[in-house]
Amino acid sequence: EFYPRLDQFNRTTQFGGFNFVDGTLHSDRLIFQGGPDSIIRGFMSLPVKRPQRLTTAITENMFGSTDLGTINIQRGRDHGLPPYIKFRRLCGLSTPRTFDDVIF
Ligand SMILES: *[C@@H]1O[C@H](CO)[C@@H](O)[C@H](O)[C@H]1NC(C)=O
Repeated sequence: EFYPRLDQFNRTTQFGGFNFVDGTLHSDRLIFQGGPDSIIRGFMSLPVKRPQRLTTAITENMFGSTDLGTINIQRGRDHGLPPYIKFRRLCGLSTPRTFDDVIF
């Protein structure tokens, strides 16, 4: 949701951090506001997110009210990607019967 930007001493840079939705499609912020190093340092200062969870910045805020997660699932279908269950089988994993079977 929020990306801090840190200098080489792990202090917040003069540009401060930014919200994910404010940084999306704004490469000028990457290039002209301290470069990628400060953002990568900021990433390293954040705890790891639980796997398989999309932030609300992605699911609710990125394109107005459109959920990017569902868009990407539909994109996969449009390109003929097999469903998740087929990939599980390919990897030798069990075939889930309910959502509870795939909760981590
Ligand atoms: C900055 O933070 C990183 C990640 O926690 C750490 O590895 C590094 O030693 C820190 N650098 C300084 C100058 O404190």
